[in-house]
Formats: sequence, C-alpha cells, structure tokens
Amino acid sequence: MKNRQSTSKSRSLFTRRDFLKVAGAAAAMPSVAWGMGRPSASNRITIGVIGWGMMGPANTKSFLGEADCQVVAACDIHTGHLQAAVDTVNAKYGNKDCKAYHDYRELMALSLIHI
Ligand SMILES: NC(=O)c1ccc[n+]([C@@H]2O[C@H](COP(=O)([O-])OP(=O)(O)OC[C@H]3O[C@@H](n4cnc5c(N)ncnc54)[C@H](O)[C@@H]3O)[C@@H](O)[C@H]2O)c1
Repeated sequence: MKNRQSTSKSRSLFTRRDFLKVAGAAAAMPSVAWGMGRPSASNRITIGVIGWGMMGPANTKSFLGEADCQVVAACDIHTGHLQAAVDTVNAKYGNKDCKAYHDYRELMALSLIHI
C-alpha cells in the first residue's frame, strides 16, 4: 500500500509537460550530437562519389562517418544506382542536398568538390 502511494505521488509530480520536455530533448539528441565537434562546412573535405555498384556503398559510408568529410555529389550512369547513392547520402545528412550526375565530367567540374 505504501509503495502504491509513493508511486502515485511520483506520477503526479512528473507531469505531461515534463514528459514532453524529456521526449523532445531525446528526439533532438542525434542531430545535436552529429553537429557537436564537427568542423564548420568550410573546413570539411568535400567529396563526390563516382560509381555506386558493389563497392560504392561501403566506400561512401566510410566517408559519411567522418566528421571532417562531406559527400556533396554522386555520379552513376545507371539511374537506379545513382538514386540509391543520393538517397544514402541525403538520409545520412537529413537533407536533400546531394547533387546527382550521370556524367562524371560534370561532377569533376564542380568547384565545390575537393576529391
Ligand atoms: N567488388 C569487389 O569486391 C572489388 C574489390 C576491390 C576493388 N574493386 C574494384 O572497384 C571498382 C568497382 O567495382 P564494383 O564491384 O563496385 O563494380 P560494379 O560493376 O558493381 O559497380 C560499378 C558502378 O559504376 C557505375 N559505372 C560504370 N561506368 C560508369 C561511368 N562511366 N560513370 C559513372 N558510373 C559508372 C555502374 O553503373 C555501377 O553502379 C572496380 O574497378 C573493381 O575492380 C572491386
């Protein structure tokens, strides 16, 4: 009985508003953690990936895991492979910024690409 009373008291102290604050903070954590300690955009190595196929996903994911790298463009002659590359990059960064090319020469001509 005593336990039930103290549980009930704890419940009343933890309001719906408190719950929403904690849940909101938890939901924001991944994006905050991703940004923490990351070099500014101008100090990141910008990368364009050419050819998705079998090797592209793993190689690209290695760069996506590096805080000082930013994959900014993808190229593949195969439309489905190109879409898979763009989707992977955009899903990682949570945006739609990855540029898509079928011709690697257009990707290479981008001034924003380092490698
Ligand atoms: N698969 C392996 O285990 C492995 C291991 C080590 C090295 N490699 C080397 O890595 C390279 C890629 O191998 P893979 O297995 O990923 O090949 P893959 O054939 O699976 O993929 C190649 C990708 O490049 C795209 N592509 C082809 N020509 C293109 C062009 N002109 N412009 C843009 N995209 C183009 C294709 O559409 C495809 O998506 C090869 O040189 C291979 O020898 C492969």
